[in-house]
Amino acid sequence: MKKIFFGSALAFVLAGCSATYGAAPETGGAQAAAPEAAVAPEASSDGSFYTSRQATRGDGLFRDNCVSCHSASEFAGASFQRRWRNRAVGDIYEFVLYSMPDDNPGGLPEQTYADIVAYMLSMNDFPAGDSELPTSMDALMEMMMFTGAGGGDR
Ligand code: HEC
Repeated sequence: MKKIFFGSALAFVLAGCSATYGAAPETGGAQAAAPEAAVAPEASSDGSFYTSRQATRGDGLFRDNCVSCHSASEFAGASFQRRWRNRAVGDIYEFVLYSMPDDNPGGLPEQTYADIVAYMLSMNDFPAGDSELPTSMDALMEMMMFTGAGGGDR
């Protein structure tokens, strides 16, 4: 069940056309035929959002900064995906950047937040690739998550 939405490249592109960020360039159907292009046309050349090295770093940073209040399993799986459905990676990034850790909001370097978000993506079966998740809000807002058919309750 969890992985279905990665397979739905065409569904993503169709959904992407009507998505919130309508002004995004190059959301055309050119990549619809490529089976690997399931995530986002604006992502790095291979369609991924982060590197496995970054996610590993994020794992450690999550342990250092977040496990006093959270367990990693809160940020993976169906209920997490429903909560962030049709949202951008930038929405999670913005939330944690401005609100977390709850006892020190914004107290960590931007890179730390990006690495932790990469770790969350890895826990939700997003494929790792060759470019790191950036700290640029604009870029992150282009990266849509959990879009389209197949993800859970529709
Ligand atoms: C001192 C306790 C505390 C720490 C430390 C903390 N959080 Fe939270 N976190 C909370 C509380 C309480 C909420 C729920 C309240 C809210 O939504 O504002 C929350 C909510 C969240 C949510 C939104 C809910 C969800 O599951 O989507 C995310 C994402 C999150 N935290 C990520 C983090 C990350 C990443 C870190 C480490 C950098 C972190 N938190 C550290 C207390 C904490």
